[in-house]
Amino acid sequence: MWALTLATAAALAHVALAAPADSSSSVSTASGSASTGTTATEPFSISIQTGVPTLTYVTVTATPQSASLGAPLPSQAALPPVQDWCIGEIFCAGEILQTVNVAQLYADPKTFVDKPTSKSSQQVLADFAALQNSSSALTEDDLVKFVDTDFNGEGFELQPLALTGFSADPPFAQNVSDELLRAFALEVNSYWTQLAREANVTAECDIYPGGACESTFIPLNYSFVVPGGRFREQYYWDSYWIIQGLLKSGLYDSVNGTLQNFMSELEDFGFIPNGGRKYYLNRSQPPLFIHMLYDYVTATNDSSILQRALPLAEVELAWWNTNRTVQVTSPYTNKTYSLARYAVNNTAPRPESYLTDYLTVHDPTLQTPLTTDEASALYAELASGAETGWDYSSRFEAVPALGSAGLRSLNVRNHVPVDLNSILYKAHILLAELYGTSNASAVSAHQQTAASIREGILDLHWDADKLAFYDFNLTSNARNSIFTMANFYPLWNGIVPEEVLANASSAFAHFAAVNMVMERYNGTVPVTFLDYTGQQWDAPNAWPPHQYIILQALQALPANLTGSALPAAPAGASSYALIPAGQIGFAESELPGQLMLGSKQNASATGPGADVSGMDGTVVNGGNATAGEGWGARLQRELANRYYTSVFCSWHATGGSIPGLLDRLPDSQLNLTGSVNNTGNMFEKFSNLNVDSSGYGGEYTVQAGFGWTNGVLLWVAATYGDVLVAPQCPPLLASEFSSSSGAVSMSVGRAGVMGAVALLGGVVLQMLM
Ligand SMILES: *[C@@H]1O[C@H](CO)[C@@H](O)[C@H](O)[C@H]1NC(C)=O
Ligand SMILES: *[C@@H]1O[C@H](CO)[C@@H](O)[C@H](O)[C@H]1NC(C)=O
Ligand SMILES: *[C@@H]1O[C@H](CO)[C@@H](O)[C@H](O)[C@H]1NC(C)=O
Ligand SMILES: *[C@@H]1O[C@H](CO)[C@@H](O)[C@H](O)[C@H]1NC(C)=O
Ligand SMILES: *[C@@H]1O[C@H](CO)[C@@H](O)[C@H](O)[C@H]1NC(C)=O
Ligand SMILES: *[C@@H]1O[C@H](CO)[C@@H](O)[C@H](O)[C@H]1NC(C)=O
Ligand SMILES: *[C@@H]1O[C@H](CO)[C@@H](O)[C@H](O)[C@H]1NC(C)=O
Ligand SMILES: *[C@@H]1O[C@H](CO)[C@@H](O)[C@H](O)[C@H]1NC(C)=O
Ligand SMILES: *[C@@H]1O[C@H](CO)[C@@H](O)[C@H](O)[C@H]1NC(C)=O
Ligand SMILES: *[C@@H]1O[C@H](CO)[C@@H](O)[C@H](O)[C@H]1NC(C)=O
Ligand SMILES: *[C@@H]1O[C@H](CO)[C@@H](O)[C@H](O)[C@H]1NC(C)=O
Ligand SMILES: *[C@@H]1O[C@H](CO)[C@@H](O)[C@H](O)[C@H]1NC(C)=O
Repeated sequence: MWALTLATAAALAHVALAAPADSSSSVSTASGSASTGTTATEPFSISIQTGVPTLTYVTVTATPQSASLGAPLPSQAALPPVQDWCIGEIFCAGEILQTVNVAQLYADPKTFVDKPTSKSSQQVLADFAALQNSSSALTEDDLVKFVDTDFNGEGFELQPLALTGFSADPPFAQNVSDELLRAFALEVNSYWTQLAREANVTAECDIYPGGACESTFIPLNYSFVVPGGRFREQYYWDSYWIIQGLLKSGLYDSVNGTLQNFMSELEDFGFIPNGGRKYYLNRSQPPLFIHMLYDYVTATNDSSILQRALPLAEVELAWWNTNRTVQVTSPYTNKTYSLARYAVNNTAPRPESYLTDYLTVHDPTLQTPLTTDEASALYAELASGAETGWDYSSRFEAVPALGSAGLRSLNVRNHVPVDLNSILYKAHILLAELYGTSNASAVSAHQQTAASIREGILDLHWDADKLAFYDFNLTSNARNSIFTMANFYPLWNGIVPEEVLANASSAFAHFAAVNMVMERYNGTVPVTFLDYTGQQWDAPNAWPPHQYIILQALQALPANLTGSALPAAPAGASSYALIPAGQIGFAESELPGQLMLGSKQNASATGPGADVSGMDGTVVNGGNATAGEGWGARLQRELANRYYTSVFCSWHATGGSIPGLLDRLPDSQLNLTGSVNNTGNMFEKFSNLNVDSSGYGGEYTVQAGFGWTNGVLLWVAATYGDVLVAPQCPPLLASEFSSSSGAVSMSVGRAGVMGAVALLGGVVLQMLM
């Protein structure tokens, strides 16, 4: 631990919290500063932790979540079929895994499968068999003793390390003009030191079977950066945004190590699994390996990596082609395309979400139990939904509904997703570029494949009237109508339809929903505008990768389309009126409401009053308007500022502070977010309705850490640092956290960590997490 003293006298921070007119609670201000605009004379210092962190391997004590220790073990359904792809009998769908899960020994089913055994596989199997022999009615306590005796702490195979090349003050920070926001970027930069991991070779289990212990960990030779929280391993698509930040931080060795690990997985398994655990060996994730490779080579000029990487990039693309590609004949043109979909071969609960999936299938409230075939199909859908990265979203629910009911209609495999195919298009383009002049036939083959994917996307996914992209639904043989953030993946990946290029107003129309979110809501852009599913990839949740993708999509527009002023809403209407008819599929009055703090009322649902965040020439927490700014630059400035705001304010609301610049909130307020002992959380997702809040919902509690959040924050700091303005974080109000509030989407606040799940009361799955 050491202190970095910034040499320059710092301009003191703007007040980060504005006192609410109707609140008597005290509000902290930056130390020594009474209001905005005050200039400090003292330099400030921030403490940056650069040492190797100490990881505490909490062997989470097994505690029955819904029964007493003396209670008999609950009865359970018949075991699902053995999964050929899964290695071992302890951590794969089978008797031990199902028994431990149905007994609900851990709040998160992933805990158990991340615990290596403390004995040989054979001994653990024998102990379990003996247990079953020993008594006619096993109790929860018997099982607790078994797991505590035979298993080690979760994540035991990993250790922290000192980051090679870490700089506490990397050059990009100079791009951030605002002192407070620069200090925050440096703070976030320092979090890499807390998230770097490598395999602890002495704790690894020998080759299965026959070793001294058994573990689900996939041994990797190089260090990497984890997302954080329950995500203790290297993850596939998370790494893309982690790498965007690592490259800004100058941590090239970490990027190299991450890529080398992916390459080992391609050699060993023929594809890159979802994450670095054996229970992910039947599925991948959005295929961004070649994008990462390209970004690394571009940033470092290290083309020596290509000798190993180019053949393995071919393996990666061949896997998607062999295992995930279907022929689709367009109902619009009768042309046939080879396009990819997410589709996992799986007929059992996912080991890391065993109880969640088991209960989705064996839901006690279901009047007619699922047949074996229906159960198998649903397990395949749940795993395929995880492969999309969007687990879960109304996007793939044939009948969107709250919780398990909606999940049971998952229809992932019957979709040709626009985001997946856009990523694969660009992967072929980038691979062709990486070959350079070294292999003309490979270059030409990849360019041809890319051209045909592009044509398929413009045919099947692009709706020229609505000026938006939608998934193609193989069940209906038509484009879906649900508007999601997948809309922005084609432009990010370099597919710009000619209708968008035709004129500035069509180009704006493609982004009109982003403008509406800036004007109408307080945070960043949510995944969809459906807020009743309780799924974490629906409203009101807004995810860091999507904000990055929208910003990149805006950057992809040629300058001749973006220089004009942002169109004004027609008289008597809101920014909603600027969205092409039918594009988002909701009438204005059907959109999720925006809660007004203090009043406990939503803003007006329609008309000019709905644009509660609109200001003259900009939006609340959207930075400062500049003269002559075109709409493209304006939307980027606003979204970049909103993203910074969400990350910064939720971090401050959970105990974050910067000595000399930003005081810690008083315990009375931190208590509201369950954060009296915290020093600021970086969340995996956010609420588009409350910038003090993390997101909520989904199948596990909100995670802190967090790889892609930090990566996107640093990328935004480096890219938009000159237009970032210190945010006004709304006050934390006790009334927002009262359990009586009916507005699920609103009251979550930081209680997202603790209370949000309870707000979804009645949804069995979420209650268990
Ligand atoms: C799917 O899994 C089943 C059972 O594990 C296996 O028999 C079958 O070969 C697999 N199919 C493919 C295409 O991998
Ligand atoms: C379980 O009990 C049966 C019958 O008593 C016995 O044959 C078997 O060896 C026992 N197995 C274990 C693992 O104790
Ligand atoms: C690595 O694992 C060994 C064996 O379990 C353990 O003693 C050691 O403390 C671990 N090292 C770290 C840095 O966690
Ligand atoms: C990247 O990692 C590989 C494997 O450790 C190493 O051989 C190579 O030298 C590294 N590249 C750079 C530029 O450090
Ligand atoms: C991919 O396809 C190959 C060939 O059909 C098959 O052997 C392999 O199991 C598949 N892999 C996955 C993860 O589905
Ligand atoms: C596609 O082919 C079918 C059968 O040949 C024909 O009836 C239909 O009109 C064609 N549709 C288009 C869009 O060309
Ligand atoms: C796909 O098409 C089917 C059949 O028309 C429909 O029931 C379903 O709602 C559509 N959308 C999704 C996400 O499955
Ligand atoms: C804008 O420029 C792009 C190429 O950069 C071109 O394709 C497009 O037609 C131009 N659009 C307008 C409206 O000038
Ligand atoms: C959202 O922003 C508006 C306008 O600044 C504000 O009045 C309202 O209280 C905010 N709501 C929340 C939940 O922060
Ligand atoms: C942004 O605008 C506010 C209010 O007009 C002003 O106080 C502040 O100095 C401006 N900040 C920057 C960085 O221009
Ligand atoms: C924190 O909240 C709990 C109940 O939510 C209350 O019992 C406790 O007194 C509060 N502590 C502080 C320091 O406000
Ligand atoms: C905070 O830490 C103190 C001291 O370790 C402990 O007594 C207290 O229970 C903790 N509070 C919360 C809310 O976790």
